[in-house]
Amino acid sequence: MAKVAPSILSADFANLEKEVKKVEAFGVDFIHIDVMDGHFVPNITMGPCVIESLRKVTSIPFDVHLMIEKPEKYIKDFASVGADLITIHCEATCHIHRALQEVKKYGVKVGVALNPATPLCFIENILEEVDLVLIMSVNPGFGGQNFIRSSLKKISSLKKIILENNYNIKIEVDGGINENNAVEIVKAGADILVAGSAIYKSENPGDIIKKLKMIN
Ligand code: DX5
Ligand code: ZN
Repeated sequence: MAKVAPSILSADFANLEKEVKKVEAFGVDFIHIDVMDGHFVPNITMGPCVIESLRKVTSIPFDVHLMIEKPEKYIKDFASVGADLITIHCEATCHIHRALQEVKKYGVKVGVALNPATPLCFIENILEEVDLVLIMSVNPGFGGQNFIRSSLKKISSLKKIILENNYNIKIEVDGGINENNAVEIVKAGADILVAGSAIYKSENPGDIIKKLKMIN
């Protein structure tokens, strides 16, 4: 069974509590929170204050995807407001190893993310440090983009590395996922599917969540 992480980037920001409750009712595994700084990506979204407020209204684990430069400066802030998993882009800091240790220091699960153009070899020396690898299947910054198909090969190559080395690492895939392409993404090796527009722009979010969760 695939795990599902709705991205609230595509939710109604004026009603975030309601939007989180809407997906909570269907047993989602995480709430995916996209933090953007207008530097690492060309968009600005939300920060620790929003997460702190949401933490009070739900117990679903928070999967915080940091698309910010110098992430190491803000890890304490995100860990202290209730992030359960913090994912950092390997392209966002030249000290990724140190940044990952910083996350672990707060007892929070840690992930590393790769942009579509970044090869897997970029993270091979830090795989033993992470709980999760986030494969970006769109260029980060916006919801509603099309899935980049070359990501499938990257997902299956990563799965192979994980199995060969017996690593305890989950593969999360983020960007352009919908009910039409989710099966092949899971088949390639994804454990966790992030979906923003497919869930929040749907007339029936519950149906989509159920379909995604049923994929083996
Ligand atoms: C994009 C974000 C994604 C985004 C996915 O930079 O990291 O999490 O919300 O949105 P969809 O599912 O619409 O591609
Ligand atoms: Zn994301």
